[in-house]
Amino acid sequence: MSEIELLLLLSPAILALILLQNLIKSKKATLKLPPGNMGWPFIGETMGYLKPYSATSIGEFMEQHISRFGKIYKSNLFGESTIVSADAELNRFILQNEGRLFECSYPRSIGGILGKWSMLVLVGDMHRDMRTISLNFMSNARLRTHLLREVERHTLLVLGSWKENSTFSAQDEAKKFTFNLMAKHIMSMDPGKPETEQLKREYITFMKGVVSAPLNFPGTAYRKALQSRSTILRVIELKMKDRIEKMRDGREETEEDDLLGWVLKHSNFSTEQILDLILSLLFAGHETSSVSIALAIYFLQGCPNSVQQLRVISETLRLGNVVRFVHRKALKDVRYKGYDIPRGWKVLPVVSAVHLDPSIYDQPQHFNPWRWQNNGNRGYSSSSSSSNSSSSTTTNNNFMPFGGGPRLCAGSELAKLEMAVFIHHLVLNYHWELAEPDHALAFPFVDFPKGLPIRVHHLHDLI
Ligand code: HEM
Repeated sequence: MSEIELLLLLSPAILALILLQNLIKSKKATLKLPPGNMGWPFIGETMGYLKPYSATSIGEFMEQHISRFGKIYKSNLFGESTIVSADAELNRFILQNEGRLFECSYPRSIGGILGKWSMLVLVGDMHRDMRTISLNFMSNARLRTHLLREVERHTLLVLGSWKENSTFSAQDEAKKFTFNLMAKHIMSMDPGKPETEQLKREYITFMKGVVSAPLNFPGTAYRKALQSRSTILRVIELKMKDRIEKMRDGREETEEDDLLGWVLKHSNFSTEQILDLILSLLFAGHETSSVSIALAIYFLQGCPNSVQQLRVISETLRLGNVVRFVHRKALKDVRYKGYDIPRGWKVLPVVSAVHLDPSIYDQPQHFNPWRWQNNGNRGYSSSSSSSNSSSSTTTNNNFMPFGGGPRLCAGSELAKLEMAVFIHHLVLNYHWELAEPDHALAFPFVDFPKGLPIRVHHLHDLI
């Protein structure tokens, strides 16, 4: 075959390729992406995005980007082209269109450490099945009959150990409370027992790795966390084998009414799936609510009036923003408010930016529990009842500390119960002050650098 003949034979294919290329180019040219800055090759703007800042602010990065580009902007974060949204409506739209237009998409390192069957990274039917099991286990009926008592018992156990005029880390105490509660609730492990204490120690190493850079080299926090993950999974697996034997021999104890027993009876998940489910619930249910309790202790000591009129849970969640943003990716090309969000791009709905948006909440960086007094008027009511004409634009829809849509936090009711009961007994029984200055920083996970050291005084014997 001559070169001319070969060229003639291939020309339709070449033509089609050129046409396709032009089509892609013209589509790219007609896309109206939001404004923004893609930063350096590969790392993009990730370093700036992750720079620590005060937890009651949106941080310098967000502030500068919003004032330059508006509430919806493009960037390159975590190695991917990303649309960042500080826009309340777009955030709701993204969360409510889970599985249709957008999908949960956490960085691969999160799956590496929490496990590929973790509910946080699963999508589709498997996510639905795991979610159903968790929601049933934390149903309102169970919260009222069973968990309320347990939450109260664990609160009093921690508060009862505080000595008059002693100083300690409030954050560590809050962690002790939520860890003990979760270990009991998930695997019937009792506080103070050697196996529970060992699990707690492994868990601390594990947590340091979850929030560290995913560098899997000897000596790194991530590598140590992967080792702790294996140890924790071994403990859970032993518990599981023991429970299966007990169930087979009819030796189950009534107090072992826990998540492990629940999944074994109500699902046909594999061992690997059960281990990841238990580990991720331990993670999701421990760190978040303990930081929220520490935040409430911090905000309350700076606002003695609110201790008298406790209505602080929503305000703590709004201002403290334990979970600041969630990870999604676009499943289809989406057009929103004149901008295109291309299929495959990462999308980050930043819920904290909405909670700290001055057009939605009056003086957003101010801890003001009274703003929640009038339902539907949450942003603008204040202790001095200074109402504002734009208050009618404020709706409960803007308040999203637990995410939204089909992936709304499965433990939101339990978390609120834990905070309410803990704070109730705390203010009834103690006066407290900061033993040395500390404040909440977002790394972007929220943490008190000094552990929130407080000094406590008994008001009377513990009730
Ligand atoms: C104040 C405390 C808490 C906060 C602020 C919080 C926040 C959140 C947020 C924002 C999400 C959504 C993540 C996403 O959309 O990608 C989430 C998911 C989840 N949370 Fe919480 N959470 C808290 C406490 C708890 C507790 C106590 C549990 C119970 C064990 C829990 C279990 C879960 C689970 C299982 C999911 C995954 C739900 C799903 O993918 O369907 N959380 N949480």
